Amino acid sequence: MGIIDDIDYGPLADLVGIWNGDKGLDIAPEPEGIENNPYYESITFSAIGDVTNAEEQTLAVVHYRQIVQRKSNDKVFHDETGYWMWDAKAKIIMHSLTIPRGVSVLAGGNHNGEKTANDDYLLEVSAGINKHWQIIQSPFMQDNARTKEFHRQITVGNGKLSYSQKTIVDIYGKIFEHTDTNELIRQA
Ligand code: HEM
Repeated sequence: MGIIDDIDYGPLADLVGIWNGDKGLDIAPEPEGIENNPYYESITFSAIGDVTNAEEQTLAVVHYRQIVQRKSNDKVFHDETGYWMWDAKAKIIMHSLTIPRGVSVLAGGNHNGEKTANDDYLLEVSAGINKHWQIIQSPFMQDNARTKEFHRQITVGNGKLSYSQKTIVDIYGKIFEHTDTNELIRQA
């Protein structure tokens, strides 16, 4: 398992494909409280090969593009792109992402390369401020809507992908837990 085009994508291999899901729930900050946004989305993951760093580290790389639409009006209200990277030697997964609010994240986590007892892969990554895995944001966002932590967990296998994520945002004078969850099916 995990081999596509001679490259071992390890726990990332099952991501590759086009996924659709309509059970999304976003909880977002508002000045006076909370906004609940039901959504649907499409994510396209592509295996793009491997890279070598300093002749020492090899990363197998999967690129993705995620487009999220509000159920109430079909408007795209979240657009995200980035990479997942697998370092088989160090047993580390890395996840870079950028969103067009002026926020980018490089999250990371350990992965033993093994499936779970449910025959799928669990990918767990986190980033924070002043940690090894970091968040970069514009001056405006640092001052007005600063992302302090990011945690993402994906379960993928057997044609199903589900995720939950938590973005801790310092906004409107409080610390807000901005969360998103969805379940997706691989397009045939
Ligand atoms: C499915 C994924 C996501 C959806 C649907 C989503 C949706 C939203 C919505 C509806 C808002 C409120 C916007 C407003 O009222 O003006 C918001 C705010 C925000 N989101 Fe997300 N978001 C997602 C993922 C993320 C991720 C991954 C990050 C960062 C790593 C992020 C960072 C922020 C920040 C910093 C804000 C505060 C800006 C503001 O409310 O004015 N979001 N998001």
